Amino acid sequence: EQIYVGVDLGGTTIKVGICNQAGQLIQTYEGPTETDKGVDTVINNIEKYVRHIVEQSPYSWDQLAGVGAGVAGFTNVREGIIILAPNVGFRDVPIRSILEQKIGKPIKIDNDANVAALGEAWSGAGRGIDNCVCYTLGTGVGGGIIINGRIYQGFSGLAGELGHISVVPDLEAIQCGCGKMGCVETVSSATGIIRMAEDAVERGDRTSLSMVENIAAKEVFDAAKAGDEVALRIVNRAAFYLGKSMAAVAAILNPEVFIIGGGVSKAGDILFNEVREVYAKLTPEPLQRGVSILPAELGNDAGIVGAAGLLLRS
Ligand code: BGC
Ligand code: NA
Ligand code: ZN
Repeated sequence: EQIYVGVDLGGTTIKVGICNQAGQLIQTYEGPTETDKGVDTVINNIEKYVRHIVEQSPYSWDQLAGVGAGVAGFTNVREGIIILAPNVGFRDVPIRSILEQKIGKPIKIDNDANVAALGEAWSGAGRGIDNCVCYTLGTGVGGGIIINGRIYQGFSGLAGELGHISVVPDLEAIQCGCGKMGCVETVSSATGIIRMAEDAVERGDRTSLSMVENIAAKEVFDAAKAGDEVALRIVNRAAFYLGKSMAAVAAILNPEVFIIGGGVSKAGDILFNEVREVYAKLTPEPLQRGVSILPAELGNDAGIVGAAGLLLRS
């Protein structure tokens, strides 16, 4: 039996997991990324955690067919280079060839959200569906496009950066981490939601959030559920611009399912109901038929499962 290791390379932790051929996650392990110690340390850590998890497993190193990794940032998939991953501190790092030398197995890399989309399509909310689009709402807003069961890469492997679709009108737009104005990420990410809440408190809006010391996205959702109107307006704004971008994506790709994951998606109905309403309002009726908007199923494991899946399904 062959096994596949998936790596989820994030700014604070590196998660690794062993998957079998069917996309079942058998074992996981995680350790610190240690971005502050530089690129070499981070890559050494990946190698260390991969070797460790295989050693701890009932499988032998010989059974390891390869390692896939998802990275939070712009990745050139064809050349195996991380072009820009601010949270991991990587710029133009040829990670695939470095890992190939260290680990001595086939290596695949891709963007974190592309990989999460593949995981969901393989064994999550998109199981058995050929065409789906996945959003991850976390620190940033990621996107992944699955066409005929495979990740759509585009010209230079950067397709699916859905968080950087510009949707907010000029007068209300603020600058995104990518340098441009009005991206979905500026309003629909956890970071965006927190910023809107802090702005409201600073403006002196009447809200229970003014009693909170360090506002987290979850507290904004909780306040909205409890009837706080300021919080509800923020949640609706996050949902509106997400839904607006989805309407655009629907017109281009006509996916059967939109999957929404990441920490912010845990807000549940209060977010999903509004997103579905906005989508219905902005999308021509024929493009709504048979299309569903679903929460992700694999949660935090989507990245690991999809990364392992890179070896089998890309
Ligand atoms: C980055 C994407 C990434 C997303 C989620 C965005 O800011 O541009 O590459 O997928 O955050 O981590
Ligand atoms: Na992507
Ligand atoms: Zn942007």
